[in-house]
Amino acid sequence: MQYADFGRFTHAVVRAIPESLTAEALRRDSASQQQVDTAAAQLETERYFSVLENTLGLRVVRLQEEEALPDCVFVEDVAVVCGDTALVTRPGAPSRRGETEAMKKALTDLDLNIVEMTDESATLDGGDVLFTGKEFFVGLSKRTNRRGAEILADAFKDYAVSTVPVLDHLHLKSFCSMAGPGLIAIGSSEAAQKALKTMQQMSDHKYDKLTVPDDAAANCIYMNLPGKGHILLHCTPEEFPESSKVFEKLKDHMLIPVPNSEKMKVDGGLTCCSVLINRPEKL
Ligand code: GLY
Repeated sequence: MQYADFGRFTHAVVRAIPESLTAEALRRDSASQQQVDTAAAQLETERYFSVLENTLGLRVVRLQEEEALPDCVFVEDVAVVCGDTALVTRPGAPSRRGETEAMKKALTDLDLNIVEMTDESATLDGGDVLFTGKEFFVGLSKRTNRRGAEILADAFKDYAVSTVPVLDHLHLKSFCSMAGPGLIAIGSSEAAQKALKTMQQMSDHKYDKLTVPDDAAANCIYMNLPGKGHILLHCTPEEFPESSKVFEKLKDHMLIPVPNSEKMKVDGGLTCCSVLINRPEKL
């Protein structure tokens, strides 16, 4: 992938929400009593899909939801796509491993080179993978281990891969993401700032940072689309008023607030709900 293509996407693979998400989706804080409103979560998801398809003009490949897979809306965790290669992961949570099958088929249909993580000692969730356009950072968390990071490095040999400990959050991208070329959105917590420092120390590249008060709000989606320019899907002012103000100061981006508060109750961020792919020849 050329760096100039960073943020360029033509397709998004997504998956609808099963009713089982409300009662059975995994939660990092298992004591959390925050009830998910299934209908509201489904509406949020429809809005998200519509932004991708209708506002941004991506080709949206919509996988069928499955009641036996309560977390299946969080497709990001089951595949990492960069250039022509798709790594189908081995998710850290055993209850999520069945999610890979439909994703593998969709990625095969897009003629991507599929690499499967078959090593039973490896685990990796895509939520732990931050691709900056120049290199990968992989969070070592309860879901992703060193062997998973090694297999990712084998799959994407053109890029350096560095690992970052993730102790206080579900995933690396629970508190950071790319907000533009060379621009890392990062939460304000001590853990988030420490992880950023680790990434900066390990990298040969210089990144700017966009610090937002709320860790969860640092999970945003950057794209650079022909005819549209820099685009950022981010939290809404209702969800995170102070973080939202930080995004609103960005002058070069088309800013699109996308509601996500229901899925946040089960640790889902904006990036979790799509796998973005650049396949212009498949349009
Ligand atoms: N509920 C998202 C996850 O735990 O994987």
